Amino acid sequence: MDEIILEVKNLKKSFRGPGGGGKRLTAVDGVSFSVKRGECLGLIGESGSGKTTTAYMAAGLLAPDSGEISFYGTHLQMIFQDPKRALDPRRKVADSIGEGLLYHRGKLSRRQVRERALEAMDMVRLDRAYAGRYGRELSGGECQRATIARAVMIRPELLICDEPTSALDVSVQAKIIGLLDELKHSLGLSYLFISHDIALVSGFCDRVAVMRGGRIVEMGETADVLSRPREEYTKVLLDSVLTL
Ligand SMILES: Nc1ncnc2c1ncn2[C@@H]1O[C@H](COP(=O)(O)OP(=O)(O)O)[C@@H](O)[C@H]1O
Ligand SMILES: [Mg+2]
Repeated sequence: MDEIILEVKNLKKSFRGPGGGGKRLTAVDGVSFSVKRGECLGLIGESGSGKTTTAYMAAGLLAPDSGEISFYGTHLQMIFQDPKRALDPRRKVADSIGEGLLYHRGKLSRRQVRERALEAMDMVRLDRAYAGRYGRELSGGECQRATIARAVMIRPELLICDEPTSALDVSVQAKIIGLLDELKHSLGLSYLFISHDIALVSGFCDRVAVMRGGRIVEMGETADVLSRPREEYTKVLLDSVLTL
């Protein structure tokens, strides 16, 4: 159970600062963590704390200035914050879902890819009636289900989710978390799950890491961090969620 699927060590990334002048802005400043197989690690923190930059580096979408990233699986997939942008509005839903597979499994016929896409729709509880509809016809929650279906098509071991419910109605958020939790068990997925909302992730994440100013300031079992936050910052994050 303690096999590691993803490990990052001392990741650093700076960007050119606003206003020029050659001043750099350090977005991620020495971040290290690991995700075990079958585990969900939550990465929480206020806006601007470096969560997305960390996620992009972990996913291999952005090169770190320094540090190491080790992924011990075959495939990982990323789920983005805004499903409406992640899903092509002008393509039919089943085609969008199937597209990932066309790149990864060149030997499958179009028909086989479509069948797999329909199965993935079942998995994420997106009615097959949506297969022939266009992306733009879907609600935010349905769009996110479709991007999750597209991600699981290639049987990834790890999903990196960057605030996958922040753009959705509150009533839909819990349902998407419920779906991800279900897939965790049925597909044996591991997660790096980014959120600014501790309350939302508390039931889903086994451990949480709290980010502030590009660093992890606290990390531990979710229940421990929530009930006994060691950092003042974590307490403030918790309070701000509870008083919303
Ligand atoms: N491509 C970029 N160019 C310049 N600055 C960036 C870029 N991406 C992120 N930043 C800056 O890095 C910091 C961390 O951003 P980000 O990782 O998006 O934080 P979070 O996801 O926690 O809100 C912020 O100050 C942000 O403005
Ligand atoms: Mg972000």
